[in-house]
Amino acid sequence: MNNGESQLQPQVTNLSPAPRTLPRRSFLRRMGVGAALLAPGAGLFGSVSKVFGDEGQNVNGITAGDAALLRFAAAAEILETDLWVQYNELGGIPDAEVPGGTGNPIYTKALKVLDGDMDQYIHDNTEDEFTHQNFLNAYLVSKGAQPVHLNQFRTLPGSTATGSSGKRRLTNLMQLTLDTSWWTRYRSRDKNPDLNPGFTFAQAVPDLHNGQFTAIPRTDADLHPPKHIQAIANTAGFHFPTIEQGGNSLYPSMAQRATSVEVLRILISIGPTETMHFQTWSDKAGNAPPLTDPTNGLTFPDLNSPPFDTQNFQTNLIMPEPCPFLSPTLPRCSIIRPTETNGIAMGVVKFLTDMGLFIGQSQAFFAFLNQLATEADAAQRGA
Ligand SMILES: [Fe+2]
Ligand SMILES: [Fe+2]
Repeated sequence: MNNGESQLQPQVTNLSPAPRTLPRRSFLRRMGVGAALLAPGAGLFGSVSKVFGDEGQNVNGITAGDAALLRFAAAAEILETDLWVQYNELGGIPDAEVPGGTGNPIYTKALKVLDGDMDQYIHDNTEDEFTHQNFLNAYLVSKGAQPVHLNQFRTLPGSTATGSSGKRRLTNLMQLTLDTSWWTRYRSRDKNPDLNPGFTFAQAVPDLHNGQFTAIPRTDADLHPPKHIQAIANTAGFHFPTIEQGGNSLYPSMAQRATSVEVLRILISIGPTETMHFQTWSDKAGNAPPLTDPTNGLTFPDLNSPPFDTQNFQTNLIMPEPCPFLSPTLPRCSIIRPTETNGIAMGVVKFLTDMGLFIGQSQAFFAFLNQLATEADAAQRGA
């Protein structure tokens, strides 16, 4: 399997008159097409009128809003795939299902301190992301809508440590600032970010939120001393659930604005796999050994010991605690949170940007991602 993008080129032809109720320019804007492509005779997107009829609806039943939701999801999945591939090359199981890289035994051994199956889980999570990106783009194409491609933005140098393929990357895993507050958010019985938007949930690993740290060995120099590579593996161990809990909220949030039942089905079928990833990784993060990296002072606390209270930090509390949902007058409920739909796509872009995942990316990259997010956030159920 390759990165999957190359086999999903748009197959849009047959220029015909513009639709009556959905202006061509409006549609192109919603579909993420830049002004440069609006030149007269730009035939690549000429099937717009064939795709969208008088109701703003695709002849196959997908609206511009649904396409925008799926396009943002596809972009998020391509980005997820890119970061997971980097982990699989160094700490997973490179094989025919997830090719690339040759593994780094020292990093893999440090990851396995968290769980003996870490390499298998990394491999399987990586394969899942490939299938998400490929399915979403193929579905868009099957409905005559534009898929998403980010290959032009694969410009970032990745790790040069033993095991890395040395490919150019979309995402940067070497300067991460991790918000680990999901750890206490899912353990809180009183607070839900949708009902308490100003509330700050405590960080599990405050240091990860206060600096920039690599989650992969950047070069072979990072493989020693042992506490340094273990701190890098621990950082990865907290990055995994931090990423996956984002998808965990993204899908149910977007699903609320899907129009077609089939698009709704896609969103509520992919979303829970992100949840399965999150809970697995949440369990493994709790096994990260307490230590201080002697090279930079990064400290991983013992989450089962004072001053951490057992309710919020006890590592075996991996099921979501019930919390207020929709209204404080209703009984508490064990749920995914947050799931507020307004602004979710831009919120995810900000979350990933604040994480440092895109450090080194171009202005064109951010402009494209913001455009996709803006269009997804403008999608309305039934419109
Ligand atoms: Fe995914
Ligand atoms: Fe994921």
